[in-house]
Formats: sequence, C-alpha cells, structure tokens
Amino acid sequence: MDFSELSKDKIIEALSLEGEELQSLYDYASKVKLAAVGNKVYYRGLIEYSNRCAKNCFYCGVRQGNKNVDRYTLQDVEVIEAARLAHKKGFGSLVLQSGERSDTVFTEKIAFLLREIRKATKGELHVTLSMGEQSEQTYRLWRESGAHRYLLRIEASNPALYKRLHPNNALHSFEKRTEALELLRKTSYQVGTGVMIGLPFQTLEDLADDLLFIKKMDVDMVGMGPYIEHEATPLFQFRDQLLSKEMRFELSMKMVALLRIMMPDINMAATTAMQTLHPEGREKALKIGANVIMPNLTPLKYREGYLLYENKPNIHEETDVSLEKLRQSIGKAGCVLALGEWGDSKHFRERG
Ligand code: 5AD
Ligand code: SF4
Repeated sequence: MDFSELSKDKIIEALSLEGEELQSLYDYASKVKLAAVGNKVYYRGLIEYSNRCAKNCFYCGVRQGNKNVDRYTLQDVEVIEAARLAHKKGFGSLVLQSGERSDTVFTEKIAFLLREIRKATKGELHVTLSMGEQSEQTYRLWRESGAHRYLLRIEASNPALYKRLHPNNALHSFEKRTEALELLRKTSYQVGTGVMIGLPFQTLEDLADDLLFIKKMDVDMVGMGPYIEHEATPLFQFRDQLLSKEMRFELSMKMVALLRIMMPDINMAATTAMQTLHPEGREKALKIGANVIMPNLTPLKYREGYLLYENKPNIHEETDVSLEKLRQSIGKAGCVLALGEWGDSKHFRERG
C-alpha cells in the first residue's frame, strides 16, 4: 500500500492492516516522524488538579454522577511545588488538568495559580491547560495570566456518536465543543485535541473521519488513546460489544502512525491510556509517531481520586521511580529525552 496520499478510503483500509503490511505502515510513519521532528521526546508534567466536575460524560469514572469518588482539589502550595519540580527537572511544560467547572471561584483560582507558577519558575516553564469548555472571557483571562497551550479533545468527531457518549443537554453539546476549539485558536493558544479509540458504537469510518477532522482543525498538538471501560459509568453496559483490549491498543497505534503521516510536524503524546493496555505502550507509540510524554506529577495521595478508567497505571509509584523507568523506555524506543526546551510543536512555530 502507498501511504503517501491518505484519502478517507485509504485510511479505512490502513486501519484494517495486519502482519507485514501493518509493519510497513509503522516503518513509513517512523521515517516521516524522524524526517519531520527527529527523535526528541518532550516531557510535560501532568498535574491532575481537581476531580470535581460539573459534567456527566458517559465514559468517565470521575463524572459527577459517580458518588463513589472522594472529591479533591490540590492545595495551592502543592501545585506550586509540582511546578517547581517540573522546572527543576528541566521539563518544558506543565499540564494542569481538571474536571470541568466554570464558576468564578474556580476560574479566578486558576488565573491566580498561573501567575504564581510564572513567578515561581521565572516564566521559564510553559503551562498547558486542560480544563474543558470555558467562555471566551475565561480563555482570555487564563491566556493573559500565563497559559500558553490548551488541550481540549473532541472525543469523537462524529456528532451522532458524540451524542451517544454524552447526556443530551446544553452542557454536553457537540456544537459548543467545536466552538470552544475555535475560541482557543482565536485567543491565541497553541491548541491540542484528540479522540478516544475503540469506543462502543464507533466504526473504522468514524476513526478515519476523526483523523480528517484533526487535520482540518490544523491543531498543533494531539493526545489520543484507547477507550477503557470503567465500572461506574453508563457505557460499561456495552462492554461486551468492545474490541478486545489488544485490538483497541493496536487500533490506537495505527491511528498514531496514520496521523503522523498526515500531520508530520505536530506534537503527539504517547498517552497513559496506551500504557494501561500494554506495559510497553508508550515506547511503542514513540517508535511509530508520538514525541511527547506526560509524566504524572500529581501528589500520590490524590491519584486514586482521578481514575477516569480502570487499571490506570502508576497510581502507587513514587515519581522518581516512574521517571527512571520512563527514561529507559525512551532509550529503548530509539529516542532521546529533550530537557530544558519548551518543545513547541514545529507545526506551531512554522505557522508564524
Ligand atoms: N477511557 C479512556 N479515556 C478516557 N477519558 C475519559 N474517560 C476515559 C475512558 N474511560 C479521556 C477523555 C478526556 C481525557 C481527560 O480523558 O478523552 O478528554
Ligand atoms: Fe468531567 Fe472530563 Fe470526565 Fe467529562 S471526561 S466527566 S468533563 S472529567
């Protein structure tokens, strides 16, 4: 198969490849990656700031409707300490992620923390936010307070599928989500999006459309990974319809490889969900297309509280232990860890 021109039909065909042909897809994607962005891997320290969330996405373990979750929010000092740690270790960026809230207490608190992080790290640490859909005013406030990048996954780019994954109300509107992505670009963030792979009801055609959607949005960063069921969610009832975990993992690898071919110079994460389904998931993703890893810097005592899906790894491990393991994985994948660099995506830099 010729991978240089990927039409929708070809993407669908590529998503079904096996054996030698699949290997040739991976080899092609590796070459594209090396030529476009080289073999550097950038770290983004992940802080799971709070699991309080106003939403009720059908797939997520911390949805508001799950009453078996102890809700937490990090103390300000814990956030600043994690930021200092990321800075000291030479990470280019910190990702502050949280359940979705839009009340003023929350939005002002985030603005405050952004300013404090900037002070504590002399403006040398870039901050990425992943805090869901917000108003233009809030996006501006946070941008002005020091955030550089924003991650907002579209989750599923087919509006009909999106509707089956979310309650049918204004808080969970597909149109608002796409508008939020436009607002982020307008308010001059580097923008990231992504999807879940192997969802119930999802077809290969949906996945091909997801890749085309991401390309059309012309984003700078992508984080996508396998859907993993969680017992305390409405989608759990469809677990018998899912592909096996092995197949969801493989499908995720194919998506990473294809997107690297379609968007050679973006930043793409090897996600935690990939590692959950395969112990070497992240290194495999690095080999065939990913170039970003998000080590978890959330204080250990909170990690049990941020279980979006089952079997999430590293919830009992000390940070330094996981970091050492990661460093080894990166080497095994033939990549080098880039410390002391922001690692903005080449795609963003060349946008001008
Ligand atoms: N499986 C995989 N990913 C999930 N997310 C939420 N729930 C799940 C799940 N069950 C992802 C969503 C969200 C990100 C923070 O976590 O894509 O955007
Ligand atoms: Fe809340 Fe995000 Fe989970 Fe949806 S996916 S319920 S917005 S934390």
